[in-house]
Amino acid sequence: MTDSQPVRVALVTGAAGGIGQATVSRLRARGYAIIAEDVSPRVEELGADEAIVPLQADVSVAGTAQRAVALAQERFGRLDLLVNNAGLFLRKPTEECTDEDFDVLMAVNVRGAFSHARESLAALAATKGSIVNLASISGLVGQPNQTIYSMTKGALVQLTRQLAVEHAHRGIRVNAVAPGAVDTDFIARARDAVADPDPAASRARSISNHPIGRILTAGEIAEAIVFLASDAASGITGTILSVDGGFTAR
Ligand SMILES: NC(=O)c1ccc[n+]([C@@H]2O[C@H](COP(=O)([O-])OP(=O)(O)OC[C@H]3O[C@@H](n4cnc5c(N)ncnc54)[C@H](O)[C@@H]3O)[C@@H](O)[C@H]2O)c1
Repeated sequence: MTDSQPVRVALVTGAAGGIGQATVSRLRARGYAIIAEDVSPRVEELGADEAIVPLQADVSVAGTAQRAVALAQERFGRLDLLVNNAGLFLRKPTEECTDEDFDVLMAVNVRGAFSHARESLAALAATKGSIVNLASISGLVGQPNQTIYSMTKGALVQLTRQLAVEHAHRGIRVNAVAPGAVDTDFIARARDAVADPDPAASRARSISNHPIGRILTAGEIAEAIVFLASDAASGITGTILSVDGGFTAR
């Protein structure tokens, strides 16, 4: 970015998590100013740099998305990128899933992303900006004990395609990254996981399902997000970019 170009501004939800932090640091390195939103107070620890403005807020609460976009306008005067990254995991057999489980995951993973996209569109049209949604291998293929989580990620795949088609004429690009298993605290933070009798065996099984022979790093996912947001991806919209070490190629 040269001095004559305005600073680009990103809104990243789930910014205090593994993929969120990796994305924030890569966007900062490329000169973006950032509204870093997360429900966790850990988001305050990202704010030492004056170009990173922390917002501790719940994506699923009415008004959060409006507040976040208003903060971007107030602090930086524009918005170029929305990264819908906040998410919850749930591993449970379908018959044990409650209506509350369904409502909580849909509210955070789907409604949160939808409301942030809706509230960002006018600002993104003004900058010819873009949206990157965090989907998952679980939004593309079936996985045992992930019915509700998979449904939320499938919804994000379709949200991506829908917004891409509907808003292309305004110069807004909308894409998603679909990661395989990533080495973050995501599974450990799961709201209601099945008790795992042998975590080491589960990890080995997960690794063996990825043809590259390992799970992914948060940095690898962040690189894909930054690429989709960049001018190098100017011809790409409505794409679900798998970053899964070959998981869905089998
Ligand atoms: N880690 C994986 O294996 C994996 C695989 C595929 C997709 N993903 C997706 O990537 C995204 C990021 O995951 P991660 O691995 O960095 O997980 P993570 O748990 O490290 O980060 C998620 C962040 O979202 C925040 N968050 C949760 N609920 C929120 C809410 N209601 N409002 C605001 N923030 C909220 C959490 O506080 C956390 O900081 C998620 O959408 C997840 O579904 C992760």
